[in-house]
Amino acid sequence: MQKAKLILDRDYVIGAIDPRLYGSFVEHLGRCVYGGIYEPDHPSADENGFRTDVMQLVKELGVSAVRYPGGNFVSGFRWEDSIGPVEQRPVRLDQAWFTTEPNTFGLHEYVNWCKAAGTQPMYSVNLGTRGPAEARDLVEYANFPGGSAWSDLRRKNGAKEPFGIKLWCLGNEMDGNWQIGHKNAQEYGRVANEAGKLMKWMDPSIELVVCGSSASDMPTFVDWESTVLDACYDTVDYISLHRYYGNPEGDTADFLARTMDMDAFIKTVASVCDAIKAKKRSAKTLHLSFDEWNVWYHSGEQDREVLKKDKWGRALPLLEDVYNFEDALLVGSMLMTLIRNADRVKIACMAQLVNVIAPIMTETGGRAWAQTIYYPFLHASRFGRGVSLKPVTDTPTYDCKTFSNVPYLDTAAVLHDDGSVTVFCLNRHQTEDFSLDLDFRAFGALRLAEHILLHHADVNAVNTADAPDTVRPEPGPGGCFEQGKGCVTIPALSWNVLRFTKA
Ligand code: AHR
Repeated sequence: MQKAKLILDRDYVIGAIDPRLYGSFVEHLGRCVYGGIYEPDHPSADENGFRTDVMQLVKELGVSAVRYPGGNFVSGFRWEDSIGPVEQRPVRLDQAWFTTEPNTFGLHEYVNWCKAAGTQPMYSVNLGTRGPAEARDLVEYANFPGGSAWSDLRRKNGAKEPFGIKLWCLGNEMDGNWQIGHKNAQEYGRVANEAGKLMKWMDPSIELVVCGSSASDMPTFVDWESTVLDACYDTVDYISLHRYYGNPEGDTADFLARTMDMDAFIKTVASVCDAIKAKKRSAKTLHLSFDEWNVWYHSGEQDREVLKKDKWGRALPLLEDVYNFEDALLVGSMLMTLIRNADRVKIACMAQLVNVIAPIMTETGGRAWAQTIYYPFLHASRFGRGVSLKPVTDTPTYDCKTFSNVPYLDTAAVLHDDGSVTVFCLNRHQTEDFSLDLDFRAFGALRLAEHILLHHADVNAVNTADAPDTVRPEPGPGGCFEQGKGCVTIPALSWNVLRFTKA
């Protein structure tokens, strides 16, 4: 058994956790919308065509914001195609994913779905093939009360009250050459600034997310942020980060350390924001929106086969990664990285929500179930609200192919409004349990109320429709805790939630 120590103090505050840290993402891609959240012919569908079995799983997750409609899809999308009588909406060929988009689920359906799911909308505008005028028109349609052409059209289409969408993304991954209407940083910075300006003139209460780099290994990373922010710092409120990790080599030690990269990515983007703030003598601090993050690599070969057979098909099974136990561990570590950076990261979206690199899987016409990665998200969303505390951890470390000094124990801590505390902990050690000494100073009397454990002997174990409970949380071994001090056992290769409530 290895030994480690965790010290928490209620004065070691990182920052308040914005509830939007537990957001997700629905793109018109694969079976995320059609056969995922929306399937009018499904036995569980409600009068709007929303799958209630999926809705139930979404509600349990407590998803706080849902980014939509893309992703790469948005860069070729005409939002006007997605409003009005469904039978009159055009069928379009989507060049982002080489599939056919029927537009039967559109803007009104999305807003209604968000309401039913109890989540906040986060809408992306197309700055690939379109520009400031169309973005402004969309804000007028969505948010202007009435008495103008676009707002009256919304009313005519059945929504008397404005949608009041507060959070808007200025395009998607505009730094990537795969993007429809890809731009260089100067071109994008200017168009983002002009679009943002017109959108805010239409509704000054909205908040804007400008595109940062689509990954930390993009060759333009840092220069992109710097040039784009130079053009639009005063207009925007957040800059986006996107990051996906994979483990095609099967190197668990290296895979589980990828959050070292994620943490450095966040800190570098925050530094660039602050450098531009200084350059502009601005009083405003820009915050970060990590609006695409997850594990993504299992489905690559299958996607190539699907598109070879059925290019331009509808609701194709694309990006359907089946997540294993090891993926759930990294997702837990990614969530802790977000919590530990809560002072700068205010919005984050796990990509995506259903079927497409998602925590929830469905059969079209059939069952819905939780993938392995569902559980760490559920735990963080449920027990990760409040104030992020700095965990002072003394833990042995290891070196692997890409990283050195990787802590075996990865932790995050949250102080809740009622004085209770949650500690999240990943044990990256593949064979050794840890005895974790706890020293919690000045919290008053707390007791260890619950230890939740996610563990499986096989890193490749997955949940399927027939065996949906292969990897699921169970009670952990716990330990002792009295008068602010104690010791718990953290099993090898495991995700842990330790809940301390008022004694
Ligand atoms: O989430 C899948 C895709 O990943 C998104 O469409 C795009 O923004 C990113 O490259």
